Amino acid sequence: MARILDDSPANIECLVRALLADRLVGVPTETVYGLAGNALSQLACERIYRAKGRPFHDPLIVHVLDLEMLDRVAIHDDRLNEIADAFWPGPLTVILRRRAAVPDVVTSGLDTVAVRIPAHPVFRRLAVAAGIPLAAPSANPFGYISPTTSIHVESQLGDRIEFILEGGPCAVGIESTILDLTNPAIPRILRPGGITADRIETIIGPIDSSVVCVEENPGEAVLAPGLLDRHYSPTTPLHFRERVFGPAELETLPTGVAALCFRRPVSATGEVGAKTHWLTEDGDPVEAARRLFSVLRELDAAGYKAIEAEPAPDDGMGRAINDRLRRAAGRGQ
Ligand code: TXA
Ligand code: MG
Repeated sequence: MARILDDSPANIECLVRALLADRLVGVPTETVYGLAGNALSQLACERIYRAKGRPFHDPLIVHVLDLEMLDRVAIHDDRLNEIADAFWPGPLTVILRRRAAVPDVVTSGLDTVAVRIPAHPVFRRLAVAAGIPLAAPSANPFGYISPTTSIHVESQLGDRIEFILEGGPCAVGIESTILDLTNPAIPRILRPGGITADRIETIIGPIDSSVVCVEENPGEAVLAPGLLDRHYSPTTPLHFRERVFGPAELETLPTGVAALCFRRPVSATGEVGAKTHWLTEDGDPVEAARRLFSVLRELDAAGYKAIEAEPAPDDGMGRAINDRLRRAAGRGQ
């Protein structure tokens, strides 16, 4: 069983020793928990893939503290300073040209690297003490829902890692937005997430946010394997509906089927059936994103035979929620 440690100075010292010895630590970030290892160590990064059961052609994100540390792993793009001023530290990952110091295993042999500067104070305390860039994918077994609490990490990876750093529930709740800056013509969103495309456009002008769904291509690094059709999936079959539930539909759910609504539904009688669940009371997409993965986990554990999920309003964070629900249902868009 992994030990869940708070961020006392003695614990941070212990975790730094582990990281410098190429061992892995479950770490909190503002998006989801990550499974961190020394990004400059081939061995540590191999251990990350093995612990997650992740194919080696699905590259890792490198987490750094500031632009100075970023320069050790990636080559600055002109637009990066503006983006960094606006969104870092925060839930945005950018794809840049890599430097030679980054082991091939991190980038799956690509000549680009994904980099992010997280804001979570507990993560930062550990990273400052370690002084090294940290490679960290989400701390879930490959293909399952990302973890937003230390207990989620423990329950799924507890037998494969020694330590988890406690940082409380994640404030954003879904993964970072991934922005590809390597094409000089037009930046492109590879994964919608914690920062909306509109906000990025106000800083750097037009971006391509028509997320493409990439088919898995054995033996070849894919563009952003997070875009694989089936990802973020619960074990219980999930069906993503095109339309929101009407009150009558909620009252006539088939046996064993749970309804996942975006917001608390209003019913004629004022009663909501026990099989009806929702992400937010009052329609706040930020709250809905924060709760999405933990609600999916609860529904997965509740013994339903299927989950029917309705779409969130398709803008801002709602778009990232719908992206995750579509992938949980096992089909891209
Ligand atoms: O919020 C997050 O981004 C979390 C926290 C822990 O930082 N991390 C996370 O990592 O979601 P992961 O490994 O679950 O997803 C990273 C995605 C993968 O889909 C991967 O394929 C893509 O980033 N990626 C990594 N390097 C890439 C590259 N050089 N080019 C294109 N996509 C890349
Ligand atoms: Mg992931």
